[in-house]
Amino acid sequence: MPKTHTTVGIIGGGPAGLLLARLLHNSGIDCVLLESRDRAYVEQRQRAGILEQGTVDALRESGAAERLDREGLVHDGIELRWNRRAHRIDFPALTGGRRVWVYAQTEIVKDLIALQLTYGAPLLFEAAVHAVEGADTEEPLIRYTHEGRDKTLTCDYVVGCDGFHGVARTAIPDGVKRTYEHAYPYSWLGILADVPPSCDELIYAHSPRGFALHSMRSPTVSRLYLQVPNGTDPANWSDERIWDELEARFAVDGDWKLRRGPVTAKSVLPMRSSVTEPMRYGRVFLAGDAAHIVPPTGAKGLNLAAADVIVLARAFARLKDTGSAELLDAYSDTCLRRVWRAEHFSYFMTTALHTDPGQSPFATRLQLSRLDRIAASPHAAAELAENYAGLPTV
Ligand code: APR
Ligand code: PHB
Repeated sequence: MPKTHTTVGIIGGGPAGLLLARLLHNSGIDCVLLESRDRAYVEQRQRAGILEQGTVDALRESGAAERLDREGLVHDGIELRWNRRAHRIDFPALTGGRRVWVYAQTEIVKDLIALQLTYGAPLLFEAAVHAVEGADTEEPLIRYTHEGRDKTLTCDYVVGCDGFHGVARTAIPDGVKRTYEHAYPYSWLGILADVPPSCDELIYAHSPRGFALHSMRSPTVSRLYLQVPNGTDPANWSDERIWDELEARFAVDGDWKLRRGPVTAKSVLPMRSSVTEPMRYGRVFLAGDAAHIVPPTGAKGLNLAAADVIVLARAFARLKDTGSAELLDAYSDTCLRRVWRAEHFSYFMTTALHTDPGQSPFATRLQLSRLDRIAASPHAAAELAENYAGLPTV
């Protein structure tokens, strides 16, 4: 018999909801997590793979980093390519020691689900929330369907970690809520391939044919992306066409070679930016993609989601320990400062490296000048490195 009341009702079992449940559990705060999809679906959904130091620290402190510490790949830099040349951005040297980890979001989700089901508070799969009511009352209510029945969960607080298409955002009245959005005139075609990566660190390539990114999932699995027009059907991209295009976009002087292998997954991702303010209304809070979306070029989506729930869990712990709601009241402003910095960085990385349809030669020259500047100036490179490797959580 599922509980009908909890302290914190969490909607959504992506990385934001799962990490929040873990952090609250560790602080002795009662919560219930409702996820609309089944476990297999949530564990297979392909997403990003770069973790900032702050995200790794939080996973470690919460006791969820055992496999991450064994299997995660530590990266001390990225490579930028343009005009057939390559330039490495050295994170520790430029940021006073910060680095990033390559460990897929799917694996974090698997690790957190396993812990939650073994030790944590209730986690219900196939529990689809259809309404959040009474945000401005003492006891907000979640309406959801589980095992074919309509159910309710009353809460002291509700946290919407239900992603871009979630329902929690609708609990903030239209007169209060403001959404800022930007759409990009291109998408990414992403592949997974059973082939060792052709590089030790990620490669972000600007080219006259459009952007390309070489990432990885493990020493034997590569993850690669190509800029494609909006509306692209992956079925129109044969494996051979994808590899040829990747090869052309990554081309540099010297003897670098792109390894090809069997493509095991292929999908098209939209690119958009969006922020909803405020991230709290009454007793309902938004965290992660429910409140903000970034294009994946800066590798910030997952890290922003983690940062939100770290701030929120700390605020709930303060309330429990001292009775002070000061941190909870500051939640939206605290998070939005970081969110807008990441929005700007993601927009910068995207527009610096992609080619707009019909882009003027003048605009291309400006892009190349910007990239040349990053290669020439440690200050310009440090600005990129600090943002990429991650700013401190608060
Ligand atoms: N009821 C219950 N669960 C829901 C509902 C609903 N009405 N709507 C959505 N969900 C669930 C989704 O099925 C999903 O599992 O909420 C979860 C949201 O998870 P994510 O979309 O992964 O969002 P978040 O946890 O904020 O993580 C952000 O995801 O999109 C990437 O790049 C982004 O890496 C970042 C991360
Ligand atoms: C990924 O590995 O999926 C990835 C890495 C870096 C990005 C985006 C995606 O900027």
